[in-house]
Amino acid sequence: MAFLLFEAVPAQRVARAKLRLSVSGQEGSDGGYWPFEVYAVPPRDPAALTWNDSPRHEGDWMGLVDASSLPDAEPRGSYELDVTGHVAKAAAAGSQVAFRVEGLPDRDWTLSLDGAEIAVFDEDPVPDLGPTAPAEAASAGAGLWLRYGEFSGQAEARKLAGVAYEPGGEVLQAAVDELRTYAGAEVPATRNPVPGGVLLGTPDNPAVQDALRQAGREREVRELGAEGYVLTRTADEVLLIASASEVGVLYGVFHLLRLLRLGTEASTLDIAEKPAVQHRLNHHWDNFPSTAARDGWGTIERGYAGHSPWQLDLPLSEVAARYREYGRLNASVGLNGAVLNNPNATTDWIEPQNLPRLAGIADSLRPYGIRLYLALRFDSPMALRELDTADPFDPRVRDWWRRTLDRVHQHIPDLGGVLVKGDSEGEPGPLRYGRTHADGANMFAEILRPHGGIVLWRAFVYGDALEDPDPDRSKQAYELFVPQDGKFAENVILQSKHGPWDFQPREPVTPLFGATPRTNTGIELALSKEYTGHTTHANYPIAEFERIFGFDTRAGGRRTTIADVVDGSAFGYTRTLAVAVHNPGTDRNWTRMPTDQANWYGFGRLAWSPRSSARECAAEWARLALGAEAAAAAEIADWLVDTDEVFRRYAQPLGIPFTSSEEYHFKNEPEAWEDSANGATPTGLGYDRTRAGSGYSALYPEPTAGRYERLASTPAELVLFLHHVRYDQVLPHTGETLAQSMYDSTFAGVEGVRGLIGRWERLEGRIDPDVCRVQRWMLRRQLSEAINYRNVLNRYVRTRSGIADKRGRDSALREPPVADVPDQQVRPGAPVTGARGTAPGRAYLLPADLARTGRWEREDRLLLAADGFRGTRAETGEHFDLRAPAEPGEYRLHVVNDQGFASEPSRGVVRVVG
Ligand code: GCU
Repeated sequence: MAFLLFEAVPAQRVARAKLRLSVSGQEGSDGGYWPFEVYAVPPRDPAALTWNDSPRHEGDWMGLVDASSLPDAEPRGSYELDVTGHVAKAAAAGSQVAFRVEGLPDRDWTLSLDGAEIAVFDEDPVPDLGPTAPAEAASAGAGLWLRYGEFSGQAEARKLAGVAYEPGGEVLQAAVDELRTYAGAEVPATRNPVPGGVLLGTPDNPAVQDALRQAGREREVRELGAEGYVLTRTADEVLLIASASEVGVLYGVFHLLRLLRLGTEASTLDIAEKPAVQHRLNHHWDNFPSTAARDGWGTIERGYAGHSPWQLDLPLSEVAARYREYGRLNASVGLNGAVLNNPNATTDWIEPQNLPRLAGIADSLRPYGIRLYLALRFDSPMALRELDTADPFDPRVRDWWRRTLDRVHQHIPDLGGVLVKGDSEGEPGPLRYGRTHADGANMFAEILRPHGGIVLWRAFVYGDALEDPDPDRSKQAYELFVPQDGKFAENVILQSKHGPWDFQPREPVTPLFGATPRTNTGIELALSKEYTGHTTHANYPIAEFERIFGFDTRAGGRRTTIADVVDGSAFGYTRTLAVAVHNPGTDRNWTRMPTDQANWYGFGRLAWSPRSSARECAAEWARLALGAEAAAAAEIADWLVDTDEVFRRYAQPLGIPFTSSEEYHFKNEPEAWEDSANGATPTGLGYDRTRAGSGYSALYPEPTAGRYERLASTPAELVLFLHHVRYDQVLPHTGETLAQSMYDSTFAGVEGVRGLIGRWERLEGRIDPDVCRVQRWMLRRQLSEAINYRNVLNRYVRTRSGIADKRGRDSALREPPVADVPDQQVRPGAPVTGARGTAPGRAYLLPADLARTGRWEREDRLLLAADGFRGTRAETGEHFDLRAPAEPGEYRLHVVNDQGFASEPSRGVVRVVG
């Protein structure tokens, strides 16, 4: 793989031409995901064309070229890039543009303009990234937490004297297989239980029945329902896992294995559990493989770990094992369903010729208790040109859907249900026909009722299709759905994102929760890191989910948390739902970033039990999935919980509502949304949602309404979401002006990333080495990105407000840092004398033969080029208190300023002699 910087070309030329990126040979093992950037370059300054352009020359970052998301992609990819908008901006700033692409497969690409190839200006091969092979990056941590016997120290627990069961259905068999995978195939399987062994099954098994009777727990098992279970040790020292149905037994097995691997004493086991929420789902935003593309890769909207895991272009036999693995991983964390496809749905998913293949997915997942759901396009009868309307009141339409969904059921009899995104973001819906959302949802509900299916009706609705939409988008779903409360059929669940906007790192909890007591209302959360850094920023949202579930809506004037709403207890909902937009892909480890697997684990645990602790889930995961001992697991848990706050500080300081780049939702681009979302004025920032503004705060019951109404009582992380604040206004939260608070937050965020890196490095040798290395590699990328996020926002605030950073950090952008050290000869570890340079900053002694590619090297790149942190570091200047590295050799001093830029290497050389 390579990072490539292409020659600059006149902007005029690009503006009118077709830019084509062709990639042949093997697909990049990064899964075809290449950040592609377009820069304005000042004329006649070739030296400006370096990797450091972005902060100096207002790099106009274009976003990701996701090889998989371009419909006309030929095998291995030939992509036409539309950079018109970016080039227009570039042309205004200078007369040349340059392009930079990261992560292309070695030597298998060309970039051309109207057929003429653009030469490469600079190439940076990936070996810089140290020992992390990209192939490993996609596989690190594969197995989620089901990594039995991979870590020493957990071996003891794996002894089971036997597994006793009566042959039953495929789910029970999966449960038995799981125990034997854990304990070894040689463990005897018997009908009668043996002391020190496991007995598992439903009361149909006489041995289970007996054991339950002796323990006096028959009734309890019945009452726990199909997914609940009793897990206990009998008087005969048998571990009993009993449930009313096989799937409950399976969950009981996973629970037992979790506890045994965490070192729980078998004799103390006595558990009776059932999930708090009925429907615990992943929602995949997968697209059907494009028929236009000869290779057919299924793409994923907002997916960053390869292509669609359904791989519908491949024969079932080639992917069935992978499906089973998916089912097993989900069951292991308590999830029981998957919506297969993008809410912006096409009709492919219900067309007759595709149903047998979808049935193959259902068959593979069924042994793990996972049911399928399909997202439907509301106007399918029209899109397929079979009817001229999609009016839900038209009998022909109802009949069409009945026939269509009956056919789906012939292939997938246990289809969990359907999901519809209607009348939002350009999708078709019932409003077009003068019908309500309830009318649309109820049509499907009626058709699905005889099949036992449900309708997930999305409340993420805003925009043009609404009659007279409120100018504050945050209010639209509330205003639309609250008046329809009670009008939805019993087997409909209104599915609402947790916040009123769209999965921002921080948003208030939507006021819709608690305001629809007569409509089953479920929660939609995001595991896909659409707005939280894709694959280069560590982010564990589970901590935020825990806060969301704990939020007290005060609905009905009493304590009513989101957990109470979602688990149905607050209003007696008959159907309950927790769903996560989750886009695992074809990467071997499903998620690409290893720590994203903690998110999967954590979501499963919270969906099962919304009052779980995010930190405990994280610590468990670290022990089970990474082989961490208790101390390391506690460090990882704190680390994961902190990632979320660190990210927020540089990506969304003070709750600025929406700063993500257009289209790709990566990096900060505050200009793009300043009017519509951020309420920017010449003198301030933030969307006034108080009564004097849009009135949004009044949608909450007290005391939240009052708390959000006043700046001083608004939580710091929501200030700009709810209030318009002048740049020079002093915030009670920080005691600083808004401008200064923004600078401080973003700088703290970047420092936070450095802290995360340092803490992660201390895990070396204590956890799975692959995960450790891959994550570390990603963290370095995160640091460089975070610096970019920070600089973009700070430049914006600095320019608009005219207020300088009182801590002087903006000056660091103007002058290159300097480093100086006298020639000297020292012994390893001895103090180095006379090291001086720019302050504040960090100093590094790095190997003298370091290859440098450009001026103002960014810190992360410098360190990567130095093959990791080979060398030594000192934290403060201007006189740096450095020690000689342990390894003999020649070293030069480099100083990195607070903006993350490095000096030229010192002229002086430090010779370390052993
Ligand atoms: C966001 C996201 C879209 C998605 C939409 C949704 O707007 O960017 O890709 O379609 O949410 O949830 O429906």
